[in-house]
Amino acid sequence: MLEQVLRDIDQSHDASLNALKEFLAIPSISTSPEHKADCRRCAQWAANKLSAIGFAATARDTPGHPVVVAKNTHQPGRPTVLVYGHYDVQPPEPLDPWVSPPFEPTVRKTPDGHDAIYARGAVDDKGQTWAHMYALAMWQKHGGVPVNITFIIEGEEEVGSPNLAPFIAANKDELKCDVALVSDTQQFARGIPAITYGLRGLVYMEVKVTGADHDLHSGLYGGAVPNPANILCEILATLHDQSGKVMIENFYDGVIPLTAGERAEWKKLPFNDEKFFADLKLSSGFGEAGYSTIERKWARPTCDINGLTSGYQGPGAKTIIPSSASAKVSMRLVPNQDPKNIAEAFTRHIERVKSEKGWKGVKVEVHAHSSAPPALVPTDGPAVQCALKAMEIGFGEKPTLMREGGSIPIVSTFKSLLEVDTLLVGFGLPDDRIHSPNEKFDLDALFKGTRTLAALYALLGSLKT
Ligand code: BES
Ligand code: MN
Ligand code: MN
Repeated sequence: MLEQVLRDIDQSHDASLNALKEFLAIPSISTSPEHKADCRRCAQWAANKLSAIGFAATARDTPGHPVVVAKNTHQPGRPTVLVYGHYDVQPPEPLDPWVSPPFEPTVRKTPDGHDAIYARGAVDDKGQTWAHMYALAMWQKHGGVPVNITFIIEGEEEVGSPNLAPFIAANKDELKCDVALVSDTQQFARGIPAITYGLRGLVYMEVKVTGADHDLHSGLYGGAVPNPANILCEILATLHDQSGKVMIENFYDGVIPLTAGERAEWKKLPFNDEKFFADLKLSSGFGEAGYSTIERKWARPTCDINGLTSGYQGPGAKTIIPSSASAKVSMRLVPNQDPKNIAEAFTRHIERVKSEKGWKGVKVEVHAHSSAPPALVPTDGPAVQCALKAMEIGFGEKPTLMREGGSIPIVSTFKSLLEVDTLLVGFGLPDDRIHSPNEKFDLDALFKGTRTLAALYALLGSLKT
């Protein structure tokens, strides 16, 4: 049976691609209120596709964007796999650098000569979610999916999944499963597919400094009033020392040190610092002393300014003391840092700096945005063995094990609420430009990924429950 399914996948690339283009054309930008209806339309599109292959599928309301839930006919004695994907995407801005418009999916060659589909969400995560939908469709056509599938596709991952954990908590019985399966990560490199076993977490904060109730002439007032922009810079400058170490008290509490084994394994991976930075048009990297680039990205926590706003931003010069200044700061967390503790430690740090400096006449406010715990999944279970084998079938190459620097908020919830580990079986490539203009999904990765998932359902189906 698997043979037939794989052959059908290999012989129907255009059918798969054409449907994916419909999915990608819907601007399901979860953070924009003006795209609320598009998010609903996108959820409905996915639910319709899954209904059409015989799944019981619905787009279910939440306080935010809908969650799609779909099941095949569950058979007793078979393991149940909870497949997760997200149909929401990041905003496409800036629009200027896009070679083809973000919501007009276009197939063309990458600069290095590979076929790819370009669109916002191409790989993060519509293309990868579609790989599941298509692999499931092919199995349905050839006798039925050989494992119990509960497929959830959410519409709020890119805003931190605020409504999904409550949805799972409220529907625990319906979502009961033996393992979770997520395709929202990357291969290590072209030719080296990978299973990811660790993700960083995230705490996203905003600091706002407010002075006078309007911008002031910097000649008439400068020197006699507090400047919110100067003060914000002083605050932000206290977050790191010269070597890049984060200076927030208790920040490193709970951080699991890298094991010698992990460090040795990662050293063996073909990673070239020079190429990595040259591809970004950087002459050098920067990070915590004593760690390699891979270690810094995968296993060390960070604190980074993500946005900085104050004063005059237009062309030329304008002489003002800005009335306010604000910064968005995100911290990537590693096991076992706790997002709540980190958010509190950050807030305490800002308050301490403020009181030590003794600034008067300004208000300093700290606000918490989204957060996600880090995740580390065991690599020694039978499901991971299935995933490694499936990748080898799908790609015809030996996969590696890796960790990643990005975050998928719901993974830790699967563990805490449903008591299952997650298989992170993703097909992106490092140069896919996720969240950036000209996001793409390599077509070879799409089709080999679809094959991998088709094989994985069969392998998981044969595990004892
Ligand atoms: N799919 C990414 C995360 C990712 C990408 C993990 C590549 C591993 C490899 C996901 O959609 C994402 O962007 N997550 C956000 C989470 C945040 C908005 C809470 C992130 O990491 O910034
Ligand atoms: Mn994603
Ligand atoms: Mn993303």
